[in-house]
Order: sequence, then structure tokens, then C-alpha cells
Amino acid sequence: MRAAIRAEGLVKTFGDVRALDGVDLDVPEGTVLGLLGPNGAGKSTAVRVLTTLLRPDAGRAQVAGVDVLRHPGRVRSLMGLCGQYAAVDEYLTGRENLQMVGELYQMRTRDAKARARELLESFDLAEAADRLAKTYSGGMRRRLDLAAALVVRPPVMFLDEPTTGLDPRNRLALWKVIETLVTEGTTLLLTTQYLEEADRLAHDIAVVDHGRVIARGCADDLKARIGGERVEVVVHERELIGAAVAALTPYGTGRLSVEQHTRRITVPVRGGARVLADVIRELDGRDILIDDIGLGRPTLDDVFLFLTGHAAEETGPGKDA
Ligand SMILES: Nc1ncnc2c1ncn2[C@@H]1O[C@H](COP(=O)(O)OP(=O)(O)OP(=O)(O)O)[C@@H](O)[C@H]1O
Ligand SMILES: [Mg+2]
Repeated sequence: MRAAIRAEGLVKTFGDVRALDGVDLDVPEGTVLGLLGPNGAGKSTAVRVLTTLLRPDAGRAQVAGVDVLRHPGRVRSLMGLCGQYAAVDEYLTGRENLQMVGELYQMRTRDAKARARELLESFDLAEAADRLAKTYSGGMRRRLDLAAALVVRPPVMFLDEPTTGLDPRNRLALWKVIETLVTEGTTLLLTTQYLEEADRLAHDIAVVDHGRVIARGCADDLKARIGGERVEVVVHERELIGAAVAALTPYGTGRLSVEQHTRRITVPVRGGARVLADVIRELDGRDILIDDIGLGRPTLDDVFLFLTGHAAEETGPGKDA
């Protein structure tokens, strides 16, 4: 399959900071690449280079087969961008903002109006459509900004943390809009701090840290890489933890972990549901009362933590310094 987005050896430094330290990426046509990484990893810098907003110090990039450095104007006509910071015009209404984008891209007025109406509906902005954008709440602006990026249905889209600041209902609504776009053939590069979002939307994930791609694969590959399944048991009272650890140890393929305050014991296993059944019988045979038991697989959060040493949503500004 042809790559709709391709980057080779991108380097960008700001003073002492190597924001991009040799980034290679390729996104096959019609697929979604999720770019994951802690704050400051270089995600937005990569998006800015790929969308012609920033010149790299070294490396090459193509969007829809067009060289980003040599033909930035052509690249811009083939892509849509929604940045991390909203770019709406405060002194226009929501509807005017969207129609203006359509007209900038030379849509016929009638089509621009129809597209604006459709997007205002999809993003739950129909009621507020004729109010000035400066009266919108943060989440409403965010949605308007996203809608603006979708006016022209470009073949390649870049979304930099599109759902940050959206409530769960609007996040779901946006996911649906994105899924529809991808079904219709759009290629998408998406950065996100929400691993659930990457899990749901991305065909492929690139984990970025310190300006480099440190892992690449689909969510399941990445999960498999950090280890397999585990049995998680919550015993009924703390006094039972010692006995439960003794009972579980023979089933483990690695180190057990115990969380005293939640009375949760986690043990890595191999063999899935069969082991789970054995463990239940074992605990029952020893009269160890349990509140909960289950078979767990690593989440994408675990993968992120394992690969980068940061938890995804905890690394707010200042905390990772
Ligand atoms: N214009 C700039 N001038 C100086 N330093 C910059 C500039 N833009 C980015 N940086 C630095 O480059 C590094 C990467 O920043 P970038 O914005 O790409 O990170 P990010 O992965 O998007 O982070 P976040 O998750 O917080 O959005 C950071 O150390 C940042 O401080
Ligand atoms: Mg960013």
C-alpha cells in the first residue's frame, strides 16, 4: 500500500532541546497512525513539520506523495489540520467560521453552507451556531475547531490531541466522525494522551519519547511485547493476603505484586482461562474468601508506562521536569 504520510530522519532542535531526533514514520493510505508520547516528546513538533508549519533541520517528508519542503503550498491543499490550540475566529459565529473555511478552499457558497450545517449538527453546535465564537465554552471551541478541520474532507488529516478537554459524550461523537472519515478513505495521523482513544481508532501506534520513535505496532502487538496475561485476585480481608500469596505463587510465571490497601494480588500467568479456573479451585480448597477475581491483559497504559517510564495522563506540565 502506498504511504500517504512518510517521514525520514526528521531532526529539529530548539536551542539545547532536540525536539525531533531522527523520526521515521510511514502511514499507509486509508489508515490511522496514533502518535503517543509523554509531554514534550516531540509529537506536536512532528505534526508541525509534516503540515509545513515548521522547517526541520534535517530529514525529508511527503504527504500524499508530495514533498513537504519543496511544495508546501501543494501539501496544504491536500491536508487538514487541527492543532493543539484552537484557531477559530472569535468575532465570527460558529456557522460563519465553518462557511469561511469552505469558501477559502473555493467551495461553492451553497456547498459551504450545507457542509457547515452538517458539521454543526454532528458536533452538537446547531443551537449555538449563530452566536459569536467568543461566547463559546472551551469544549465548544474545541469542537468548532475540529469541525473547521473537516470542512473540506481532505485526503490526509492531522489531528493534534483532538479530544483534549472534551466531555465523554463529545469525545464519543468525535470518534464516530473520525471513524466515518477513515471509512471514506481519509488517512489520519492523530496524537493523543488518551490511550483508550488510540486503542479504538488507530490501526498502528508509534510511541515517541525524546524525539524518537521507540516502539511501533498495533495495540495488541505492543501489549504482547510487555508480557502476557495475569490473574488478579482481591481477597475478602487483609488477613488472607499471606495465605493467598502462598496459594498463587506456584501458578506465577513471574513476580507477584500485592497492593495492601485494595487487597489485590496480581500474578503473571500463562494459559489463560484454564489457569484462572485452577486458581479459583485452589483458593476455594483453602477457604480463602475472595471479593473479585479476573484474568487481565496489559492495557495500553501499562505499555506506555513500561516503554516511557511515564504514566500517560499523569505527566502534566511541571510534573515531568
Ligand atoms: N518553538 C519552540 N521553541 C523552543 N522549544 C520548543 C518549541 N517547540 C517545541 N519545543 C520543545 O520541543 C520539545 C517537544 O515539544 P512538543 O510540543 O513537540 O511536544 P509534545 O510531544 O507535543 O508534548 P505535549 O504532549 O505536551 O503536547 C519540548 O521540549 C518543547 O519544549
Ligand atoms: Mg503537543
